[in-house]
Amino acid sequence: MTHSLIDTLGPEKTRIAVSDDASGLVDSFSRSISYLRLSVTDRCDLRCTYCMPERMNFLPKKDVLSFEELVQITDAFISRGITKLRITGGEPLLRRDMLSLMERLSRRLDDGGLKELCLTTNGTQLAKHAADLARFGVRRVNVSLDTLDRQTFFRLTRRDVLADVLRGLDAAREAGLKVKINTVALADANRDEIPQIIEWAHKQAFDISLIEVMPMGEGVAGRPASYLSLQDVRADLEKSWTLTDDAYSSGGPSRYVRVGETSGRLGFISPLSHNFCSDCNRVRMTCTGRLYTCLGHEDGADLRQALRDDPTLEKLHRAVETAVRFKPERHDFDVRTLADPASPRTMSTTGG
Ligand code: GTP
Ligand code: 5AD
Ligand code: SF4
Repeated sequence: MTHSLIDTLGPEKTRIAVSDDASGLVDSFSRSISYLRLSVTDRCDLRCTYCMPERMNFLPKKDVLSFEELVQITDAFISRGITKLRITGGEPLLRRDMLSLMERLSRRLDDGGLKELCLTTNGTQLAKHAADLARFGVRRVNVSLDTLDRQTFFRLTRRDVLADVLRGLDAAREAGLKVKINTVALADANRDEIPQIIEWAHKQAFDISLIEVMPMGEGVAGRPASYLSLQDVRADLEKSWTLTDDAYSSGGPSRYVRVGETSGRLGFISPLSHNFCSDCNRVRMTCTGRLYTCLGHEDGADLRQALRDDPTLEKLHRAVETAVRFKPERHDFDVRTLADPASPRTMSTTGG
């Protein structure tokens, strides 16, 4: 079936039920949207210095979508061609009863609606939950880790919990989860440690991606001093290693190379030094139901309001379609904006 079904519910109520392959979401630059990043909480148990200030104002709990609503909206996206769902935060595993949400979402893997259900986490709660995540169909987790040094970890995250993260990674491996480490490259914190982190990750059979610090969120001083271009990092690594471009893609913005000396895979996420927006396939929703069609812009839609106004979901579908149609062509992150970000939203609100 390739068209929308119009289902009459009563004299004035008409429900538009969109069939599976009814109308995929394609933006005005012909990019198909197949990947939803769903932030289930903006709260976090770390305070990474480049991400947020120590005293952070989180979204009011009363505005956060219930599991019921998150599932309804996710189902609506799946009916429009979303096949990859990544759960993000803040720290998603801090949301109460999170595993019951994962269980519900995993049913869409079972019925073929989703091809992939994955999670981005800071790892602090992973030891407790890795086995259940695997049981609910998660195959890959992306774990944020910027240093292996306890003091540096404490300085960077303002919390002394590196050991918990390392235990979480062991649990992930034991549960059979494939791990990708995400490391923000920071001139003033881990520049010299980067080769060591890569070697460590590859020894554990983890993939690793390096990320450039981005100008997201207010109240964070020092980003200009932290910024490190990944083109420079790559040039440094090539002084001692052989890096060979690798065509592998996980459907994200990482561009991969193979490191000859470690035989592992290394990704570069370079939003500032190398724009990758032309292949963008994703949208994001916050835990309060705000849809963002680009990490670097405010464009989007209030899906909570659309859902609550119209239980038939018609309004929700129209809001999603309109937002996708106006998805910006590219983010405008620029080294010059690091000191004064255009967006008040921290990465923890939209989950990266
Ligand atoms: P996979 O490819 O499935 O492994 O996921 P991913 O790399 O898309 O997800 P992950 O959560 O590991 O993303 C890593 C980081 O890349 C995010 O936290 C962001 O910092 C950055 N990132 C992801 N998507 C975008 C994007 O669309 N634009 C920009 N500028 N950065 C992004
Ligand atoms: N710039 C780049 N990466 C960031 N992250 C959080 N804030 C920023 C920022 N301003 C990263 C985290 C994590 C991922 C979700 O986003 O370190 O790896
Ligand atoms: Fe938390 Fe991730 Fe932000 Fe660190 S970067 S404070 S782990 S949301």
